[in-house]
Amino acid sequence: ETVDWDPADAGKGGYDHYMLKEIYEQPTALRQSIRGRSNPLEGRADLEELPEGAFDGIESVHLVAMGTSYHAALYASTLLADRGIPAQAFLSGEYGSSPPPTDDRTLVIAVTQSGETADTLSAVRSIQGTGAQTLAVTNVVGSTITRECEDTVYIRAGPEIGVAATKSFSSQVATLTLLSERLSHDITGGTPRATTEILEALSVLPDDVQRILDESTAADVAAEYHDSDSYFFIGRGVGHPVSLEGALKFKEITYDHAEGFSAAELKHGPLALVTENTPVFAVFTGRDDTKTLHNVKEIRARGAPVVAVAAEGTDRIEEYADHVLEIPDTHPDVAGVLANVQLQLVSYLAADELSRPIDKPRNLAKSVTVE
Ligand code: G6P
Repeated sequence: ETVDWDPADAGKGGYDHYMLKEIYEQPTALRQSIRGRSNPLEGRADLEELPEGAFDGIESVHLVAMGTSYHAALYASTLLADRGIPAQAFLSGEYGSSPPPTDDRTLVIAVTQSGETADTLSAVRSIQGTGAQTLAVTNVVGSTITRECEDTVYIRAGPEIGVAATKSFSSQVATLTLLSERLSHDITGGTPRATTEILEALSVLPDDVQRILDESTAADVAAEYHDSDSYFFIGRGVGHPVSLEGALKFKEITYDHAEGFSAAELKHGPLALVTENTPVFAVFTGRDDTKTLHNVKEIRARGAPVVAVAAEGTDRIEEYADHVLEIPDTHPDVAGVLANVQLQLVSYLAADELSRPIDKPRNLAKSVTVE
């Protein structure tokens, strides 16, 4: 007797797609990203790659990245700004064409899963000679970006095969959160108590993600809404990059039109597109929720179905949403990672309902090595 065996499936470990396997690997990936780097008791993030004084003299931060990594960069820029550090995220493909002024007080962080994205490599090359300090945040050991930058911090997510990036986003955000705490300590002196709170939230993040994987009702949402005209994703603060990432994932693998934007933008244009046939995903992180809820009411008034991604038991949000994808209650700075996992599941399950080639979406590549 023979068993049918396709070598292409060998690495999937029983999952139908690499993407799903990698979504489920997130608790492990996150534990690896955090391991040995977090000291909640002392309110300190220890990134062993970066010696004491590594950021002496740094006054501002530029993050450069593309795709999902850009969303992680945008997430980190919000965290840094909240910690009093001037920080901005740039699409690396734009940064290289017209680099903003940099000098020896600027830290340029290149965020790239593969370490091979041409736009990101050329963004780093574009500021060489200006005195700016360069740091790679990447997943791939020995990748080109690690040779282009002075320092490297690895996200330690493990190999990612699916073209749609999933676990690398979570591990990038976890690593950049640690880095933000380290930068805040070095540049502003930091506040150990605030650092302790965020590090405690990070330490339970892998378990929180596991709970979502075990209990998510994303399948109901995907089954109900996978044949709509258009999908919108909104959120504020770190919920904004999560909205962009939710929409990116959705369009990449379902081929349906999806757009993410800041909930603050809604009334400045996108609301004109909202109808009964445009489901809206609203990300609530526990910060500025009242404002986002107000936007949700405006959306509901136009008849659009609303899927809220919010902490469990938030009654006033439940009242205005058709579905709530629940996330464990946590620190608002890490809540975005949890919300993103719910949105990953929705995109995956919707694309599966539509029988799309999830691991190899048309026209897209895992790493884009030309500009
Ligand atoms: C491509 C991939 C995306 C990825 C982006 C940046 O567009 O399809 O999944 O986010 O490149 O890749 P990087 O390796 O630099 O993170």
